[in-house]
Amino acid sequence: MSAPATGPSAVDAPSKPRQILVTSALPYANGQIHIGHMVEHIQTDIWVRTLRMHGHEVYYVGADDTHGTPIMLSAEREGITPKQLIDRVWQEHTRDFASFGVQYDNYYTTHSEENRVLSESIYTSLQAAGLIEARDIEQAYDPVKEMFLPDRFIKGECPKCGAKDQYGDSCEVCGSTYQPTDLINPYSVVSGATPIRKVSTHYFFRLSDPRCENFLRGWVGGLAQQEATNKMREWLGDAGDAKLADWDISRDAPYFGFEIPGAPGKYFYVWLDAPVGYYASFKNLCEQRGIDFDAWVRKDSTTEQYHFIGKDILYFHTLFWPAMLEFSGHRTPTNVFAHGFLTVDGTKMSKSRGTFITAKSYIDTGLNPEWLRYYYAAKLNSTMEDIDLNLGDFQARVNSDLVGKYVNIASRAAGFLIKRFDGRIQDSAMRHPLLDTLRAAIPQIAAHYEARDYGRALRTTMELADSVNGYVDTAKPWDQAKDPANAVALHETCSVSIEAFRLLSLALKPVLPKLAQSVEAFLDIAPQVWADANTPLTSQRPINAYQHLMTRVDPKQIDALLAANRESLQATGTATAAEPAAASGAKASAKAAASAKTAAQAATDTPDVISIDDFAKIDLRIAKIVDCRAVEGSDKLLQLTLDVGEEKTRNVFSGIKSAYQPEQLIGKLTVMVANLAPRKMKFGLSEGMVLAASATDEKAEPGLYLLEPNSGAKPGMRVK
Ligand code: 2FM
Ligand code: ZN
Repeated sequence: MSAPATGPSAVDAPSKPRQILVTSALPYANGQIHIGHMVEHIQTDIWVRTLRMHGHEVYYVGADDTHGTPIMLSAEREGITPKQLIDRVWQEHTRDFASFGVQYDNYYTTHSEENRVLSESIYTSLQAAGLIEARDIEQAYDPVKEMFLPDRFIKGECPKCGAKDQYGDSCEVCGSTYQPTDLINPYSVVSGATPIRKVSTHYFFRLSDPRCENFLRGWVGGLAQQEATNKMREWLGDAGDAKLADWDISRDAPYFGFEIPGAPGKYFYVWLDAPVGYYASFKNLCEQRGIDFDAWVRKDSTTEQYHFIGKDILYFHTLFWPAMLEFSGHRTPTNVFAHGFLTVDGTKMSKSRGTFITAKSYIDTGLNPEWLRYYYAAKLNSTMEDIDLNLGDFQARVNSDLVGKYVNIASRAAGFLIKRFDGRIQDSAMRHPLLDTLRAAIPQIAAHYEARDYGRALRTTMELADSVNGYVDTAKPWDQAKDPANAVALHETCSVSIEAFRLLSLALKPVLPKLAQSVEAFLDIAPQVWADANTPLTSQRPINAYQHLMTRVDPKQIDALLAANRESLQATGTATAAEPAAASGAKASAKAAASAKTAAQAATDTPDVISIDDFAKIDLRIAKIVDCRAVEGSDKLLQLTLDVGEEKTRNVFSGIKSAYQPEQLIGKLTVMVANLAPRKMKFGLSEGMVLAASATDEKAEPGLYLLEPNSGAKPGMRVK
C-alpha cells in the first residue's frame, strides 16, 4: 500500500491537499436499491464529505454492475434486451442514491467503452506477464437452453439429507456443502432440463503463481482492519502452503459481458470487469473534468485509493483486485474498508415481514432520508460488525437526539434573537467558555469520522448538545425575557446558543448535509468546512427567521413503510426471487471452495461399518427445547433453542417443519449431536443437530419423528 492510511488530519486547511479516490461496491443492475445497500453508501458518503471538508481533492465514483448470467436472464424474463434492462435500472439506482444525499462525482455503468478498453488492457498485461492460462474444464450444461449453468442455476435433492429443491452448492435444510454434480436428480432452474456434463476451454488468472502469493503477503500488511488481515492470512496460509487457487475468469456464450480478446465466444466473468468498473467510472469522470487519469492509477502514483465494501466480497477486493492491478502495471488500493451486514429488528431483512425495505419505498412513504443517515452513522464503527436497524430504537433515537437535543437549541434561541435583537448576535458572547469547549472538540469529531468511528463522533456531538441544553436550562432565557433589565444577559444566552448550534451543525454536517444546508441559509453563512470551527458568527450578518428544521418520526410512518414493502412483495411476485440467489451464486462460485470441497468429499467416503472409537467421537446429549420458531423464508426449517446443560443455549436449525408446529416442541426433551462443527447457514449459525427418525424410502412412507428420551433424562446428559 502506497499512501498514508487514515491518520487524522488537522482541522486547518492542509498545505498540500491529499488526492483521494473513493468507491462503494457496484450494485447489480437487476435489483432495486434497498436499505442494506444504503448502509455502505451512506458510510462512504459520510467519509467522502469528511475529507472534502478538510479541503482535500476527493473523487467518489461508482457504477452499476451490469454483466453476467442473472442479468441476461432477468432481461429475457422481462422480454427486453439486457441493455434496455440496465439502462432502466441505472436510472432507478441513480435516483435512489441521490434521494439519500449520496453525492457521487460519477455514477456510471460497467457496460461502457472505458470499461471494455481497461478490462482488455488489464487482461492483456496479465497475459503478457504469463499469468493467464487456458484449461479445459467440464461443467454442467443445459442442453435445452444451450448454456453452461452456474452452480446456483442447478437444483436437485440434497445428497446428504435428500431434501428437495436444494441449490447446487449447499443444502438449506441440513447445511451440507457439496458440488452441483453431487445433487440427486439435478435440474436446470432455467429450463427444467437435466444438466449434462460438457467440456469447454476456460481462462484462469494464475493466482497460485508464487509472484502473486509473494505480492499479496506483503500487501496484506497494510490493511486497516484486523479482521480483514486475519481473513487474508487464513486464505494465504503459511508460506509454502500454496493455498491460493487459480481464478476462472472466463464464461462461455451466451453471456452478457465483454468478449475476451483473441478468444471468440468467451467472455470475461462479471467479477473480472466489475472492479475495473471503478477505474472506468473514474476515467469517464477524468474525461469530463480534464483530470489526468494516468497520474492517479500508475504504479508510482502518490494519490490514495479506498474501496468501501461488504465483508462478503472481501475475497475479490483483497486478493483478485490488488493482484490484477499489481501485475498489470497499476498502483494498488491504499486500503479496503469492509462493513458488516444489516439486520432489521434483529433478523435478516424479510419480504414477508415488510423489512426488505427498498430505498424508493422509504422516500415515497415520506420518511426523511437524513433520519436513516443519522441512525446508521450512530451505529457504525470501523469494524465488520453487523448493524441492526431496530425500528423502535430508530424512532426514539432520531426524536430524542436530532429533534429533542439538537434542533431544539435553535428553536429555543432564534425567536428571541430575531424579535429582540434584530437577528444580530452579541459579538462578546462568542468568547464564552462553552463555545471554546465545542470548538476544541471539532477536530476530534472530524478525526473520529475519518477513522470511520461515526458512532463515536456522534456520541461526542450529542454530549456537547447535552451541555448546551444544560447551559440554556440554567440561564432560562424565557425568564430572562420577562424583565427588560436582563436584556444583555438574554442576548448573551441566545447568542451563545446559536453559535453552539452552528458548531453542532458543523459536527453533524457529513451525516446531515441537507440539514446543514438549511442551517447555513438560516444563519446566513457560507458552506461550512472543518476550519470554520474558528469562524464565529458576527453581528454584522443577522440570522434569518427560524423555520422548522426537522420533524419527529411518527410511528405511523414506520407502519406505512412496512406495509408498503409487504405490498411490493405481492406486486413483484416470484420474478425477482431468483435475483438475490443468483447474485450470491456469483460470490459462492468464486470462493476458493477448497475446504468446503474437502469436507464434502470426506463425508461421502464414510464406510458402512464404524468402530466403537468412531462412535465415541460423537457427543450425543439430551437437549431441552426451550424455544422453537419457524424460520422466515424457509418452508423446511425450524429454529430450535436448546438447553444442553451448558452456560449458554445452542441455536440449531432443523429440517422438521413439515412434521411439527413450533409450539408443539417447546419444553420437550430430545437428543442432539453436540460436537458437530457449527455450520453457517443462510439464516444464521447452526450449533449442532437434533436426531429424528424417518423411513428409508421417504417417498413411500413420509414422516419425521424427533427422538425423545424416557422420563428422568436431564438436559446435558450424555447418550452412549
Ligand atoms: O456483490 C455485489 O453486489 C457486486 N455487484 C459488487 C461488485 S463490487 C466491484 F467489484 F465491482
Ligand atoms: Zn441436506
